[in-house]
Amino acid sequence: MEILPEIRNRESPVVFGNMNVESEKIDALIEAARWAPSCFNNQSWNYVFVSKEADTREALEEALSRGNAWAKRAPYLVAVGADPEATCKTNGLPYYAYDVALSVMTLVIEAEHQGLRVHQMSGWNEEKVKEAVGFPENYRAVVVFALGYEGDPEEVWDELDERMRERVKRTRTRKASTENFFHTRFGQS
Ligand SMILES: Cc1cc2nc3c(=O)[nH]c(=O)nc-3n(C[C@H](O)[C@H](O)[C@H](O)COP(=O)(O)O)c2cc1C
Repeated sequence: MEILPEIRNRESPVVFGNMNVESEKIDALIEAARWAPSCFNNQSWNYVFVSKEADTREALEEALSRGNAWAKRAPYLVAVGADPEATCKTNGLPYYAYDVALSVMTLVIEAEHQGLRVHQMSGWNEEKVKEAVGFPENYRAVVVFALGYEGDPEEVWDELDERMRERVKRTRTRKASTENFFHTRFGQS
């Protein structure tokens, strides 16, 4: 079934290239992310874009888990945080994280449209991320993502360990829609 190519072809690469990301494209990503929906329009997301040249870059890289070392190649690492008190808690749910996710996903689709790639991560030390980018103490860091143009794995093949090589070669998969999409009642396909 045909759907938007930006959605179907999106992927989270582990090899980013060195190509510079044009500032107009960063502006487009920001514009896309700010138009995301959010609970009561609270827009609780806070993005910090950290380029390779930024003085916060080394500290943010150090916050990443060892398994996410691949992200250090990306031209940008972006930390997204929010004040958990600054948005609604309808049904006792932490909607600040939902707001952030909607905004990031909107940015991701625009990134694909601009020929860029995003790889989101939850593997990092929160205190180190907060300290690196200066989020206030009461904020939660919600996600860190790598951003840039996808690189050619052949060019860095020797630097990749076996796990990374497997990831480069993998085929993206999803559960069958009958497993988690239902009609009328849970469990009913
Ligand atoms: C909230 C979130 C956290 C993730 N954390 C990591 C991570 O720490 N390291 C990593 O390599 N990939 C991480 N991923 C990427 C997922 O593994 C990836 O999206 C999934 O395997 C599907 O692949 P695709 O995005 O290429 O379709 C994360 C994705 C999301 C949305």
